[in-house]
Amino acid sequence: MILPGETLGVLGGGQLGRMFCEAARTMGYMTVVLDPDPLSPAGAIADEHLHAPYDDEHALQQMGERCAAVTTEFETVPDSSLRALERMCRVRPAPEALRICRDRIREKRFLRNHCLPTAPFFALTEQGQLERAIGAIGVPSLLKTSTGGYDGKGQQTITTEDEIDTAFTTLGRVPCVLERRLDLSQEISVVLARGDNGEVSCYPVAENQHRNGILNRSIIPARVPEQLARQAVDLAGQVARELDFIGVLAVEFFVVENSLLINEIAPRPHNSGHFTLNATVTSQFEQQVRMLCGLPAGDTSLLSPVVMCNLLGDLWNGRAPAWERLLNHPETRLHLYGKRDARPGRKMGHFNVLHRDIEQALQLSQEIQALLQEP
Ligand SMILES: Nc1ncnc2c1ncn2[C@@H]1O[C@H](COP(=O)(O)OP(=O)(O)O)[C@@H](O)[C@H]1O
Ligand SMILES: [Mg+2]
Repeated sequence: MILPGETLGVLGGGQLGRMFCEAARTMGYMTVVLDPDPLSPAGAIADEHLHAPYDDEHALQQMGERCAAVTTEFETVPDSSLRALERMCRVRPAPEALRICRDRIREKRFLRNHCLPTAPFFALTEQGQLERAIGAIGVPSLLKTSTGGYDGKGQQTITTEDEIDTAFTTLGRVPCVLERRLDLSQEISVVLARGDNGEVSCYPVAENQHRNGILNRSIIPARVPEQLARQAVDLAGQVARELDFIGVLAVEFFVVENSLLINEIAPRPHNSGHFTLNATVTSQFEQQVRMLCGLPAGDTSLLSPVVMCNLLGDLWNGRAPAWERLLNHPETRLHLYGKRDARPGRKMGHFNVLHRDIEQALQLSQEIQALLQEP
């Protein structure tokens, strides 16, 4: 067990890295962040910020020497960096799990090979396969780059078969997944922790509402039949076990006509788990610290129904939103990530609304979102 007083490292200085550092520091650990951006949200609060590229040998050496254990806040971190760190300290999740989750083709094949349900897909790696792909999947469909996409970026909608050529070119003719565009009745996700002993602890299921491919709101507990929620928890646990995953992991699901399809796996804390910062006994970031340190998982019980809303840069319009409109409501908890530039679509923060009645929490969250948008 790695105990308070020791130093923990995180690759990536975004909001997820920041909230990891906050949890670690609260528990008495020291923190080191590696991120090339000198203004990174996590770097600003870490004990030490190494600003260097993720493959910088000297910075990795420093990190490995200082830290008892290192984790990541994003899955696209170079494999070679993780391997280098592994020679010096504990690294969780293991590089192999990240390798699968950072590549849609690998991820989808992993799911298929383990008989886990996904939307129909075709792995497209070259121009010559376009016709076969669209023949197999049909329209409407979505072409998604195999790597590098997030928040709906790196995706093209295809509504007629002849559009696939342009879509493939628009995405830079890189390896892609062509996926049937499904009529979703809901989207849900499960955040879980899996420890060294293989034990899995799941958070309550979140119901996720997206806007323009970006998460807008999560509602917890998800308003789905109990049996569907149980199935989601079982499938997420299966994913974690098949990956032999150690750490915090999120599984995103599509609900289509009362059945579940796995959309994506995030090998880290997830935006749809931010409700745990205020509404569960243990937050997903404390859980990440615990898993990294080989400690037992904390209690994942829900203390109150909760709605989490993202705050995107669009709200800024040249100046900060009128926060008093949100802070006037005692049921709300504001989290801002300390980012300077408020660009449209950029995640700047989120807020949680806690209320014993979930429909009232939802209504209040909508009112606050509308209030923040008013001039
Ligand atoms: N096959 C699909 N059918 C319908 N909607 C989809 C499909 N794939 C993605 N979406 C929508 O786009 C959102 C983002 O897509 P996703 O594959 O999760 O990429 P990202 O990595 O950007 O989160 C999903 O949460 C969902 O709302
Ligand atoms: Mg997603």
